[in-house]
Amino acid sequence: MKQSKITDFSQKDILSIEDLSPIDINLILNLSEYYVSLNKSQNKKIPKLKGKTLINLFFESSTRTRTSFELAGKRLGADVINMSIEGSSIKKGETLLDTAMTLNAMHPDLMVVRHNESGAVNLLAKKVNTPIINAGDGCHSHPTQALLDALTIRRNLKKLDGLNVAICGDIMHSRVARSNIQLLNIMGSNVKIVAPSTLIPNSIEKMGVEIFHNMKDGLQNCDIVMMLRLQNERMHGSYVPSTREYYEIFGLSKKNLDKAKPGALIMHPGPMNRGVEIDTEVADNMKQSVIREQVEMGVAIRMACLEILNSKRVEG
Ligand code: NCD
Repeated sequence: MKQSKITDFSQKDILSIEDLSPIDINLILNLSEYYVSLNKSQNKKIPKLKGKTLINLFFESSTRTRTSFELAGKRLGADVINMSIEGSSIKKGETLLDTAMTLNAMHPDLMVVRHNESGAVNLLAKKVNTPIINAGDGCHSHPTQALLDALTIRRNLKKLDGLNVAICGDIMHSRVARSNIQLLNIMGSNVKIVAPSTLIPNSIEKMGVEIFHNMKDGLQNCDIVMMLRLQNERMHGSYVPSTREYYEIFGLSKKNLDKAKPGALIMHPGPMNRGVEIDTEVADNMKQSVIREQVEMGVAIRMACLEILNSKRVEG
């Protein structure tokens, strides 16, 4: 079979997993393997993006995603500008268009954008010719998180097809859940979602998932248990009676973990709320928890995404 090259990547931007084919996803994952090794070596820098400018534009707070994009750009030799506009109550439409024009005038080579409104990053991508990576928009999409989760899964279980994956918690407000459901479906795995009915969005079954309202049935026969935080900042009103009760029913305690396959992988995109959606010992269980490995994979995935979009631009 013909080996794909990074210039075969189908997109100018990385906005959503839905836009990607299995070939695109495998291109990113395969190139990331090289960066996993580079990141473990003494000299972590290669000049793939030397002379290029990367702008990280964060309208919403972030620890892991922002730092890993910064590190990824620097390890590839780019000049990295970090702009954070936190807690903005400014009118989103106007600000975005103004921002897009201002930044475009500075001729950046790549842009990474996080915004609290779903669809904002797609809007920006239409206005500028710079390649854009979506670092999370509202409840909509977080493609690089799903890609780093896929790399973590592939390295541990040696495949991405035929797996049973339970995604548990606040599905309603989670862009991580949406992107992971899309990626796992594209690659041929089966997703079950486990949450109280108040935290399950309408018509989620159209995304090809099975819905469960208890951990016992939801985790049965699962190879992977992916936990999500209650995203209180996106909630208007109360969605769960109390965090103590929530933990009893939907938290990943040792007792609940026993419902999954023995040795099932434990994942969490972070930030974790220990004692709310996950027990502290379960999170730190080094035999099954790959939560730290997810963070490590994040840098490699983001290096691969930056390199791929830049090569497309240079070739195109
Ligand atoms: C997630 C996000 O921002 O969507 N975090 C992350 O990127 N690692 C999940 C979350 O905030 O709960």
